[in-house]
Amino acid sequence: MVFLGPRRLPRSRTLLLRQRRQEHEIVDELETLAIERLKALFGSEHANVQSYSGSPANQAVYRALLSPRDKVMGLRLPEGGHLTHGWSVNFSGTDYQRVPYGLHEKTQQIDYDRLRETARRERPKLIWVGGTAYPRIFDFAAMAEIASEAKSYLVADIAHISGLIVAGAHPNPVAHCDVVTSTSHKSIRGPRGGFILSKNEDRYQALYHPTSKHNLARRIDRAVFPQLQGGPHMNTIAALAVALQEAASTSFRIYGHQIVRNAKALAEALLDRGYDLVTGGTDNHMLILDLRDRTTRSAKSMRMTSMPRALPSTPGRSKVSRRRRAR
Ligand SMILES: Cc1ncc(COP(=O)(O)O)c(C=O)c1O
Repeated sequence: MVFLGPRRLPRSRTLLLRQRRQEHEIVDELETLAIERLKALFGSEHANVQSYSGSPANQAVYRALLSPRDKVMGLRLPEGGHLTHGWSVNFSGTDYQRVPYGLHEKTQQIDYDRLRETARRERPKLIWVGGTAYPRIFDFAAMAEIASEAKSYLVADIAHISGLIVAGAHPNPVAHCDVVTSTSHKSIRGPRGGFILSKNEDRYQALYHPTSKHNLARRIDRAVFPQLQGGPHMNTIAALAVALQEAASTSFRIYGHQIVRNAKALAEALLDRGYDLVTGGTDNHMLILDLRDRTTRSAKSMRMTSMPRALPSTPGRSKVSRRRRAR
């Protein structure tokens, strides 16, 4: 083994180190820029931009907040939730106790009353709000009330709606939640990646993390690196910083609102033509068509013109869409 002090390094090595230090100054600056832009856009106290994507961001949340086998509540995947919110085959369903919640049979929207009852009974340590296929506005304030009653962390996964939130076309969960995660490649129009927003302090530190030296923000950062990941993807973080600047523009606000108007217009047109929509319409950029009673051919052609994704199970037919159909 050879030990070389800094003065004894060959010139080529010192040059390389100096160059590395300069590179780090630039990447640190870029990362800080992305972080500050995120904090300003969403009004959050803390931001981490290193997660490689949405699922790793959610995994970091589990590491930062929970211990294995803790209870987690999330919207069931077939009803619009995400794999990482406690689905059986995912780490979140195998390493944690899952307590899924679902949709109201008639409205096909989140059943907040049933959710409250389940949270009171089960006392999960974490409740997810957010999903992959949910076309309605999430009631973050109601979820926050339920989470506080059950002494649960409330985490919003805004992977699909982060762009709409920035545009002001969907309520912002940041004030209501302990942590918020997102992908950066969907409606916020950035590179394939993820980010995590959080409060600095953990309101349940004394209850759930009494021996930890670290506050919530620090635990999130440590969960991402070094607990789950290695070096940051600086190319992605640089692209995110650019996307966030675009997202802060007036044109992005107009664009976000226009997306919702377009989706609503399409929903109206489809309903008028006799199609069924899960929940009877949309508040965001998603439409979920219920094609179960259509012929295979029409179902196939609809799939060709849309993004195939997990459809929520539709326990009963939507009263709203049936009414529209009769018109
Ligand atoms: C709600 C939600 N969260 C997280 C993710 C995971 O994102 P990724 O595919 O980047 O891991 C997705 C993916 O679509 C999602 O819909």
